[in-house]
Amino acid sequence: MKVIVSGNTEIASQQTVGFLSDALKEKPHSVFLLPTGGTPLEAYAILRDKYAAGKIDFSHATSFNLDEYLGLKKGHPESYRSFMHKNLFGHVNFKKGNVYIPDGNTADPDRYCAEYDAALRGAGVDLALLGIGTNGHIGFNEPGTKFDSITHVAKLNGATIKANARFFRSAAEVPRRAVTCGLGNIMAAKKIVLMAFGKQKAAAVAKAIEGPVTEAVPASVLQRHPDVTFVLDREASMLLKSTPLLPPLLGGIRLYSDFNLPRGKKIVYFSPHPDDAAICSGAILKKLAETNEVREVVMTSGHRAVVGSLDQDGRIALRERETEAEAKILGSLPYFLRLRFYESGELDENDMKKLRELMQRVRPDIAFVPQRSDAHPTHKLSRKIALACLPQGIEVWSFETPWALFGHGKFNAAFEFGEKTMRTKLGAIRKHRSQTRRTSFDLAAHAIAHFRRITIAEQFFSELGKKPIKTDPYLELYDIKRW
Ligand code: F6R
Repeated sequence: MKVIVSGNTEIASQQTVGFLSDALKEKPHSVFLLPTGGTPLEAYAILRDKYAAGKIDFSHATSFNLDEYLGLKKGHPESYRSFMHKNLFGHVNFKKGNVYIPDGNTADPDRYCAEYDAALRGAGVDLALLGIGTNGHIGFNEPGTKFDSITHVAKLNGATIKANARFFRSAAEVPRRAVTCGLGNIMAAKKIVLMAFGKQKAAAVAKAIEGPVTEAVPASVLQRHPDVTFVLDREASMLLKSTPLLPPLLGGIRLYSDFNLPRGKKIVYFSPHPDDAAICSGAILKKLAETNEVREVVMTSGHRAVVGSLDQDGRIALRERETEAEAKILGSLPYFLRLRFYESGELDENDMKKLRELMQRVRPDIAFVPQRSDAHPTHKLSRKIALACLPQGIEVWSFETPWALFGHGKFNAAFEFGEKTMRTKLGAIRKHRSQTRRTSFDLAAHAIAHFRRITIAEQFFSELGKKPIKTDPYLELYDIKRW
């Protein structure tokens, strides 16, 4: 199972819409299984906007709804038929004959269920979109429902009646029975995306993903499906203990926040000069160091950038002391290589040997290097030697520097962070006093992170470009590749 965690429900809903539109791009005749409820509302709103903007086409697609109350009057505003019409079908171009919603007024529910089931199975679901109840239900498959159940009449349990009472004047008005697709129907979908938002869903989500597979928690059956993605907001993910949490992917950019970063990895940061790590990546390094082992490999002594009366040894010692103070703030382990290319301008065997030995000792999972088009000679050689010595198969995160910002389309990840982390980053940069006294790299780093937030959110995260998506106030950018 994949678990994608976003900072807010808007980003999570964009992510879900991404799955739906990818399915349609790949197969215009896609068959969807869709939910109602509070959770999918933003996703349906984005789909409406996307359709209005001419960016999605449902004309060949088919949709089945997961469930419908039994016994509400035709046209009742809380029937799932009304819900779907109001929130989606009334605004987009599904063909009428391709939309299936169970009939809540059928005179013969059992026979009707068999017919609905046959139509659903005949169509074959490509993508099932689900919500989850606080009791772990999916569709109206309440705890105790058989894993191989097909479309049937379900009795709503107390927790569901209570949860859904918010849509009615009182709990007494919530219908007691519903037609629902069975767990077997859901499991027959090729791909399943389950959305859950809010802390009230956290316990059900944790049981579904990390608990035993049991009919007492209907959503736990999803652990047996080969292609399931949970799309969560931060609150709904809070009780997960061991599952890796992944960032959402919006417009080709992975949006990392402090709660969906890699954990338990060995990370090396190749910092060409002693202060590059703090200036370029102080925010993400601080957060990564909380749950990973982060080594800051300082490639060169950087002594030439110290102005004043100290001799070379004094200048090197000063820069290393500054780096140690910075690393204390960031929580990383500094390692000084003092590579010779800094003096000669050329890589030599001795430099390579030092680096290879270090890599063999550390065996990193992730390495940070200066980005490809960074033309600063020390950065360029640092990248070259680092890549030449890295083990195959690891993740390489290229970073931008104030001297070489990423061009359009040259990065695929962003790390969002707030004022507190920015203060830590600035504190780390300012430990390199010999440098910030000369040039305000702290202000440059602040300005770049702010500029990236303003322009990237607008350019890449908003599906429609109507309004920038909400993120934290600062971004650091990265380009991640498997090496
Ligand atoms: C609705 C459905 C239900 C809901 C679940 C969560 O069609 O199948 O399983 O997905 O009850 O409801 P909300 O989203 O209102 O919290």
